[in-house]
Amino acid sequence: CFHVFKGLIKWINLVFLYNTILQGNVEIMTHFFLPSGLLWGVGSSAYQTEGAWDKDGKGPSIWDAFTHKKGKVFRSETGDSARNGYYKVKDDIQLLKELKANHYLLSISWPRIMPTGIKTEQVNEKGIQFYNDTINSLLENNIIPIVSLYHWDLPQVLQETYGGWQNISTMNYFNDYANLCFEKFGDRVKHWITFSDPWAVDVKGYDTGEHAPGLKPGECSAYKAAHHIIKAHAKVWHSYNDTWHSEQQGMVGISLTRSWGEPIDPHSQTDKAAAERYIRFHLGWFANPIYKGDYPEVMKNYVGKKSAQQGLGTSRLPTFSVQEKTYIKGILDFLGIPILLFPFLQVPSYNTDYDLAELVDPKWPAPGPKWLYSVPWGFRRLLNFIKTQYGNPLIYVTENGVNQILGMTNIGNKFNRIISILFTALNDGVNVKGYTAWSLLDKFEWNEGFSERFGFYHIDFKTKNEPRHPKASADYYKKIISANGFPNPREVDNWYREAMDSCSTTHQHLATGNCAFCSVLEKHII
Ligand code: BGC
Repeated sequence: CFHVFKGLIKWINLVFLYNTILQGNVEIMTHFFLPSGLLWGVGSSAYQTEGAWDKDGKGPSIWDAFTHKKGKVFRSETGDSARNGYYKVKDDIQLLKELKANHYLLSISWPRIMPTGIKTEQVNEKGIQFYNDTINSLLENNIIPIVSLYHWDLPQVLQETYGGWQNISTMNYFNDYANLCFEKFGDRVKHWITFSDPWAVDVKGYDTGEHAPGLKPGECSAYKAAHHIIKAHAKVWHSYNDTWHSEQQGMVGISLTRSWGEPIDPHSQTDKAAAERYIRFHLGWFANPIYKGDYPEVMKNYVGKKSAQQGLGTSRLPTFSVQEKTYIKGILDFLGIPILLFPFLQVPSYNTDYDLAELVDPKWPAPGPKWLYSVPWGFRRLLNFIKTQYGNPLIYVTENGVNQILGMTNIGNKFNRIISILFTALNDGVNVKGYTAWSLLDKFEWNEGFSERFGFYHIDFKTKNEPRHPKASADYYKKIISANGFPNPREVDNWYREAMDSCSTTHQHLATGNCAFCSVLEKHII
């Protein structure tokens, strides 16, 4: 397959894609402890879990509008009820306690606290109450809340009226919303993420159209949306710094895309350049402006060249003014890195601007869907790249996990390999302070609906009240957290056995015929 593909695309350079990485030449440690003080946690997001989409004064988001159109999501499923997290805060916090998580990454739904997205129009006190209760309950249970202000659920009114992130005014509304969150929750929340994976927001929402608002090139420009998001991040960081920081002493970061590319032929200069270009077009698109004040040179060159070929007078990639460059540069207290991978479609747009082909090495273990591979050594390279390119910033791993495709069996949860690589990266001097496994519960997976299950807790969708049951991975992760790493291999083997046992005895009924529920572990030793 690879050779055929390569033959067909001689004119372009090739990169392998990976997210979480490893192959044979990298040693995986079997016995190590992480530095004390590392935050262990899990995460989820508002639209994927809360449900109650139109309850207690919440306004519609672009995801409500998108999922209500037939055919946009697998089986036309919606997050209308999602996992009913809105009604199960206390129960779900008990699960976090069970896991011994010391932080929880959650997102606030903007339209739940501002139904139209515009502060001067309406603030929904019930929404504020909901997040106050959630944050208080977390803290009462000694769980640190890490809060994302934007995990993709833009208020629909802003989309309809202004074109969402296509319009610079959305930046100002976002800043008002962020300030309200700082005012209401900032006495207790000390870790803020402005945007969770803006790359996905832009490319999937404004380029491939797979995600809300479902736009495609011609209708919009992903570059423009990204430009406004970068400026919005900067504006919010400055607001916090100028108004809230001295009193609240928190941090504001952003969670950036985790994609990484390797040259197919490591001896080929063009393949090496293609891999570098790939990284610059993904991570660099956002990280470069934020750390260095401008888009990567290679991005400016390629998009400029393509735009000229298309007969456009100016590049489709917007430019920052000199003042803006100063304003956006260095505005980050920490960087969040999710470690999951998405596929890319070859359409004439962002995805074709960087002139390369993306293939997946058939040797990389695939735990389920076609976009997710387990390649931990790439994670180490990504972290080291960030360290050298962006001045060794403070990093939190904000999402790492695997899913189970409905009905598949024996899917390995690879987070133990990743944690081993994390340890190695820490020894390389990378400044990682937290690890967030993804995710707490099985939940709504965007355009994949409920067909993918990422949770430590299985949800029985068909039973009333949707009971949550721990998978084997919950027991295993709890042990890693308690030990702050991996003690001797024999004990880790015991963990594995105990986790499997606990799962199969507790949930015999489900183990029959569908082991996906239980078999979510891969042994630590490879
Ligand atoms: C998203 C999550 C999602 C996960 C798996 C991540 O990039 O941020 O919301 O659950 O991918 O689909």
